[in-house]
Order: sequence, then C-alpha cells, then structure tokens
Amino acid sequence: DWNMPDYVQEAIGRIRSEVGKEEVILGLSGGVDSSVVAALLHRAIGDQLTCVFVDNGLLRLNEAEQVMQTFARNLGVKVIHVDASERFMNALAGVIDPEEKRKIIGREFVHVFQEQAAKLPNVKWLAQGTIYPDVIESASAKTKKAHTIKSHHNVGGLPDTLHLKLLEPLRELFKDEVRELGVALGLPHDMVYRHPFPGPGLGVRILGEVKREYADLLRRADAIFIEELRASGWYEKTSQAFAVFLPVKSVGVMGDGRTYDYVIALRAVQTQDFMTAHWAELPYTLLAKVSNRIINEVRGINRVVYDVTGKPPGTIEWE
Ligand code: XMP
Repeated sequence: DWNMPDYVQEAIGRIRSEVGKEEVILGLSGGVDSSVVAALLHRAIGDQLTCVFVDNGLLRLNEAEQVMQTFARNLGVKVIHVDASERFMNALAGVIDPEEKRKIIGREFVHVFQEQAAKLPNVKWLAQGTIYPDVIESASAKTKKAHTIKSHHNVGGLPDTLHLKLLEPLRELFKDEVRELGVALGLPHDMVYRHPFPGPGLGVRILGEVKREYADLLRRADAIFIEELRASGWYEKTSQAFAVFLPVKSVGVMGDGRTYDYVIALRAVQTQDFMTAHWAELPYTLLAKVSNRIINEVRGINRVVYDVTGKPPGTIEWE
C-alpha cells in the first residue's frame, strides 16, 4: 500500500545518491521490466544512462522500431541499437535441440553486450530489471537446486566478468507494482501491460532449426493473431498468446492450385502464475478470422491449428 508519485520521487533520490555522477549501462529488451528501469533511470540520471538494445533476429514484427520510437525518439533516452541478427542466425544454423538453442542465444547476447560495454569505458554500473519474484526464485533455486524443465534465459543473465556494480531499482517490487510504476513514468499502456515474451524470443517458437525465412513467416502470422486478439478484446482476457512455426509441410488448395506449405499453431493461455495454465476458449469466429487472414496474407503458410493442451501436461511454449 504505497503512493506512486511519492515512490517515484523516493526511488529517483535513492538512485541519484547511489550512482552520483557515474555512468550506467542497461540491456533494454522492450519487455516490461527493462523498459520500466530505462524510464526510471532516465528520469533520475538522464544522459548518464546508456541502453543497449540487441536485435537478435528473433523479435516480433516491428519490435525494434517500436522500442527505438518509445525510448530514443519520444523519451530522448540514449539507446544503442545493435542489429546482431546475422550473428545469431549463424550461431543457430543446424541446431535443433531447444536447450542448446537457449544456451546459444544466451551466450551470443552476452558477447554482443560485452562488446558494446567495452566501447563505454566510463560505465561503472550495470542496471538490471530484477524484480522481487526473481530475487526469491534465484534464492530458492540455490538452496533447492531446483529441477529445471527449461533453463530460462533472459537479458538478466549477464556475468560478473563485466566488473560493474549492480543497480537493481525494481528489486523490491512485484509485477503489478512495476506496471503501475511504468504508467506513472509515462510509458505507453500497451507496453506496460504486454504479455510476457521469452528471452530467446522466436527462437523457441520455431520448432527445431531456426532460419530467417521461418522467423519472417512466424513474425507476420504472430502479428495478425495479436492484432485480432486486441481488436476483439481477447488480449486482456488471456495471459499469453502467440503463434508457433511448425517446419512441416502439408497439402492445401488455393484457387485452382495445389499448395504445399508450412503450418502455424496458435497458442493462447490463461494463468495466474505461469506454473500451470489452461488453454483459452477463444471464440470460433475469432479463430476462423485469424486463420483466414494468416493463410491469405502470409504466403508460405497454408494451414493453421489451435493448441488445446493445458499445462501440465504441455508447457506454455512449445520448446
Ligand atoms: P513454459 O514454456 O516453461 O513457460 O511453460 C512459462 C513462462 O516462461 C516463459 N519462458 C521463458 N522466459 N526465457 C524467458 O525469459 C526462457 O528461456 C523462457 N522459456 C519460457 C514463457 O514464455 C512463459 O511465460
């Protein structure tokens, strides 16, 4: 129970006295947590903050432009936009195993980030969007040596080798408080109330080997699904929704011709904690519209299916 404007002022004061005149670097992913850290630090220390936004080629449609628009152009935050998609694609070529893909994406991110940090010799601080549940989770993982189904990698996982002091201004906040803070700092509602997006991005939504061609098809299908969810009011009624690319071909018919193209699976779930989840009972009319649009607008996809698996036994992501 706290007052947001007071909290913002207090947090700004704390950051200023901690950081002084020193410079700070932040990996900005476009997700809620790093976005709120960027907005808060920019308020507190302005140009002493440099953000690094890494395009790994596995982002959603127009995501890089949106991040640059919101932070660099609208708020005037210093953001270095690194297009590393080629590097990630090369590193992922021929790799099929989901955990292997996660490791590679995590490792490449660290390399790219370190290269950028090395170009900023005056930086003394590494800011991270760690929130209270992350603090608890990593503490319990250390004691319990938790049985991991998936090794979650996100932009938080940077090593100590950077020799920077850690700045974690959201450490004591729950997710809903982080969102309130984001709104108070003037971030767009849609950015603050976004569904979660995994660190490895589309890398774990393209089953098996990742290819740029697959990523391009998936991005377009996913954007149509999300657009229709928003238009129908279902985005807010689901906890997470996305398209998955299946690298199998099936036969279809279009006009007087036969097609032989890839499959898109749609996934939408409702959950409180993401540990268990129900598949969302989306209206058939909505599913029909999304299916028609994807098949008509995304050449290369000729079949759309809906995932009706709960968690358990499924996981939310397909990999
Ligand atoms: P699963 O698929 O394990 O997903 O049921 C639970 C939640 O975690 C997200 N997820 C990830 N997030 N890095 C992340 O930052 C990852 O490697 C990763 N894998 C899954 C998933 O999107 C869902 O919200």
